[in-house]
Amino acid sequence: MEQVLVRASRVYEVIIGEGVLSELGLRAAALLRGRRAVIVTDSNVGPLYARRTEETLRDAGFAVTTFTFPAGEASKNPGTLLELLTFFAKQELTREDVVIALGGGVTGDLAGLAASLYLRGVPCIQVPTSLLAMVDSSVGGKTAVDLPEGKNLVGTFTQPYLVLCDITTLDTLPKEVFEEGMAEVIKYGMIRSKELLELLLTDDAERKRERVIAQCVRLKRDVVAEDEQDFGERQILNFGHTLGHAIEREMNYKLFHGDCVAIGMAIMTRALVRDGRCPESCEKILEKLLKKYKLPNSTELPSERILAAARADKKRRGEKITLIEPKTLGNCVLVKTDFAELARLLELGR
Ligand SMILES: NC(=O)c1ccc[n+]([C@@H]2O[C@H](COP(=O)([O-])OP(=O)(O)OC[C@H]3O[C@@H](n4cnc5c(N)ncnc54)[C@H](O)[C@@H]3O)[C@@H](O)[C@H]2O)c1
Ligand SMILES: [Zn+2]
Repeated sequence: MEQVLVRASRVYEVIIGEGVLSELGLRAAALLRGRRAVIVTDSNVGPLYARRTEETLRDAGFAVTTFTFPAGEASKNPGTLLELLTFFAKQELTREDVVIALGGGVTGDLAGLAASLYLRGVPCIQVPTSLLAMVDSSVGGKTAVDLPEGKNLVGTFTQPYLVLCDITTLDTLPKEVFEEGMAEVIKYGMIRSKELLELLLTDDAERKRERVIAQCVRLKRDVVAEDEQDFGERQILNFGHTLGHAIEREMNYKLFHGDCVAIGMAIMTRALVRDGRCPESCEKILEKLLKKYKLPNSTELPSERILAAARADKKRRGEKITLIEPKTLGNCVLVKTDFAELARLLELGR
């Protein structure tokens, strides 16, 4: 078992290990005064893990109810949010009680947002069950739902009270969902950790998942501690995402997020190597890792369409964009630039 302490506007633990789900009840009881819990989960994860989650909470004295919504990003919307808030009201949830987010990033974002809004804030415990949710979305306090106009446009920064990653839940995660999550794992290595890159290269990430997840959580923890509200340094986590998000939108979300991020990282790294601004080793290792973990490194989409989608990004700040550029192995930097430079790099890196 690995434990990581996050020191943000709330101090909380991230526990990573086999079978830690069975500790949820006792850990929650130690943290909270209330004894009512609402589990929020989706239609895939609920049938697999809701019963065990209910049991551990009941054994620790909680009265438990479960809210299940249809799995998928399409549910991460204001309609489901309102249904969930109404469910909280019917359960007479108080600020001493707890919301348990049991599932992937969609569940974590939706339940986290609902918990942060209801009564101006009910405690939330994240129990991530996808690789992406374990290494990324459950830690750091960003919560959100989508609008038809764009993803994650409505949300808050609200840190959880505890994050419990039971890595045995990954056994039921569809293989392709695990694989796309690996793009974010590789991203952490590229932005902050040569050691992680070496581990991913020399060993199998799935076999070493406890260690790999813990390393990613530590890296995210450090970035979040520097810039909790995403005004500067936290943007480093967007490596591969400027182009990745644009590709994702242009493909109408038919390509996995992780695949798009992998392509974004590959294009940017190749461009900077060709520009003489980054050592070739960065490209070599990234390409090796993408191949090893079955992730793509290029797209057929025309550059104009990718650039147009990047320009249309609702969360862009004015004409300037911040690019995340690999400098050396395990080290990226933030560079403020404009669209002309993005267009040049995109051509150079294809
Ligand atoms: N808050 C943040 O900081 C942050 C960061 C990155 C991504 N996100 C958000 O996370 C979401 C993507 O997360 P995701 O990839 O986990 O998506 P997801 O929650 O939709 O999960 C992917 C699929 O796997 C299934 N699943 C999850 N765990 C399972 C398990 N153990 N066994 C079987 N099936 C399982 C889900 O039902 C779903 O079908 C996006 O909405 C994204 O915006 C948020
Ligand atoms: Zn991402």
